[in-house]
Amino acid sequence: MKNVLILASGKGSNFEAIIKYFKERSDINFKLLCNKKNAYVLKRAEKLNIEAYCLKFEDFSDFFKNRKFDLVVMAGFDRILDKKTIQNNKFINIHPSLLPKYKGLKAIEKTFVNHDTKGGITIHYANEKVDEGEIIYQKAIKINPKWSLRKIEKEIHKLEHHYYPRIIEKLLGLNILVVGFGAREHCIAEKISNSKYLDKLYLADSNDGFCDLGEKIIYNNYLELAQKAKEKNINLAIIGPEKYLCEGIVDIFKKFNIKTIGADKKTSKLESSKLYAKKIMKKYGIKTAPYVKINNKKNIEKYLSYFKNPVIKANGLASGKGVYINSDKNKVKNELFNFLSGKFLDASKNCLIEEKLFGYEVSLFSFWDGENLLNMPLCQDFKQNDDGLNTGGLASICPINIGIENEFKLNKFKNKLFNLLKKEKIKNPFILYSGLMITKDDIYVLEFNVRLGDPETQVLLNYIQNDWLSIFFAQANRMLNYTELKEKNKELTCIVMASKGYPLKSRKNIEISNIDFNNKNAKIYFSNVKRTNNKYYSMGGRVLSIVSEDKNLIYNILDNIEFEEKMYKKDVEIKQ
Ligand code: GRF
Repeated sequence: MKNVLILASGKGSNFEAIIKYFKERSDINFKLLCNKKNAYVLKRAEKLNIEAYCLKFEDFSDFFKNRKFDLVVMAGFDRILDKKTIQNNKFINIHPSLLPKYKGLKAIEKTFVNHDTKGGITIHYANEKVDEGEIIYQKAIKINPKWSLRKIEKEIHKLEHHYYPRIIEKLLGLNILVVGFGAREHCIAEKISNSKYLDKLYLADSNDGFCDLGEKIIYNNYLELAQKAKEKNINLAIIGPEKYLCEGIVDIFKKFNIKTIGADKKTSKLESSKLYAKKIMKKYGIKTAPYVKINNKKNIEKYLSYFKNPVIKANGLASGKGVYINSDKNKVKNELFNFLSGKFLDASKNCLIEEKLFGYEVSLFSFWDGENLLNMPLCQDFKQNDDGLNTGGLASICPINIGIENEFKLNKFKNKLFNLLKKEKIKNPFILYSGLMITKDDIYVLEFNVRLGDPETQVLLNYIQNDWLSIFFAQANRMLNYTELKEKNKELTCIVMASKGYPLKSRKNIEISNIDFNNKNAKIYFSNVKRTNNKYYSMGGRVLSIVSEDKNLIYNILDNIEFEEKMYKKDVEIKQ
C-alpha cells in the first residue's frame, strides 16, 4: 500500500481530479490535510469518501512527526512547511505559471493583466521557498488575446487536472509490462529494469535470455493478457512485435483502459499494407519511389517492363524479408512469380513493383504521443546477408551523420510526418519508423513501420542516456514536449549472431557456450534462446545481439562464442 497525503487550502479541483484519476487503484491510500475549516476541498473529500484532517497550520509539523508518506502533494495549499518536515518526505507542488515566471499568489491574474500570449503550468519538487525546487514537468499553452480571465483559468486548470495525476503516478513507481520475445524486447526490458521510476516489471513472452528481469505473465490470448495486466495494476504496456500490433492487441488493451505504447490496428496499416502506406505518403507530399500494384501473374512481364531497375515488395507483413532486389531481371521475374504464388501466404497476394532508388539508407524512429513528436538520432541497419538475401537485420549503428544539407531536408521531412500524424488524428502513442533513402537529390521513404526495429533498438536505447522509462511514460501521457534527449558521445555498433541457414532454414536446439557476460564494455541481448541447466540453446534464426562502442571487442566476443551454427556479418561499416 502506498500512502499519499494531499495538502490543500481552497477549492480542491486538483484534489478531485487526482482522486478520480486513481479511483481504480486499490493499492494507494489518499488522505487530505487542510488548514482552512471552510475550504470547499473538505466537502469534496467527504463526497469522495477520502479521510480528511483539518488542522491549524501551527499544528502541521506535529501532524507530520509520527507519520511517513510516500508522497506529499500540494494542490492549492497556501502555506510553506518548515525545512525539516519537507526533508523527511517527498513534497511536490503545482503552480499555474511557467516558473520561474510569476512565483507566489495570483499567477493567472498576472498572466491576464500582462496580456501574455503564453501561459502554462509547472509541477516541481517543493522546498522551503515559495514555488521553488527542481522542475519535474512544464506545459505551455498559447493564450488567445480575446480570452477572459475566466477562460484562461479554465484552460490552465484543464492542464493541471490532466498532468498532475500522471506525475503523481510516475513518482509513486510504475508497474510496466513488456510484450515480445526478441532482442529488442530484451533491451527495452533491461532499460526499464534500471529505471528509478520502476516499481515492478512484468514480461509477456520473454525468451530465456532475459526472463529473469521480470515476472512472467502466462496467457493464451490478448484478452487474457489484458485481464491479467489489469489485475496487476499495470501502468503501462509496451508492445514490441508488429504482428501483435497488426492483430489489434492495443485495441484490446484500450478497452481495459490500460495505457499502451503501440499502434492500434488502424494505424498499424502503415506497416501491414505497403499500398496503404504509399497512399498516405502521396496525401502528405512525402517522396517515395514510383510503383505499381500487381496481383496477377499474367501481368508480370508487362508490369516489370515499366521499370528500369525493378524492386519487388510483398504488400503485407513478412518479418522484413518481403523485399527482393536483384540486378538480374530474370531473377526478379521468378521471385515475383514466387511472391504471387504465395511465398508469404496472404502477405504476398498483392505485391508492389517499384523503381529502385540509389543512395544510402537510414532509419528514423519518431516517438508520437498523440500531440508531440520526438525524433531520435538516425540509425543504420544492415539487412542483407552475404548471399544478398534480406533478413530481419544483422547489424546496426547509431548515430549516423548525414551532413548539413541532408539534415535540412530531413527537418522538412519531419515536419511532414508531424503533419501526417496530426491530420490523420492518430491519438494512440506509438513509434513510427521511417526507412529512408538518402539520394543525391532528396530524401525518400522506402517504408514505414509502426514500432521499434530490431536490431536498431539495441543501439538506439543504449545511445540515448535518458531514463527510458521516463521517455516511455512521457510518451504514454502526452508529455514528450518536456523530454530532452541526452546523447552519448560515442557511436555504438550492434552485431547480430544468427544461425547459419538464416533467413531460410536454421537448426534448433544447438548449444551456445563461452559467452562473455562479464565484459563491462559490451551488452548482450538474446533473441531466440532456451536455457536449461544454465546452458543456452539456439531456437533458430537470430540468436543474440552484442552492442558496444568498440567494434573489435564485439568481434572478439563473437569469435570466442562456441556455437556450431555461428553466422554473423563481418566488417560492418557505415554505408554512405
Ligand atoms: C491551482 O491553480 C494550483 O496550480 C495552485 O492553486 C490552484 C488550486 O486550485 N497552486 P484547486 O484548489 O485545486 O481548484
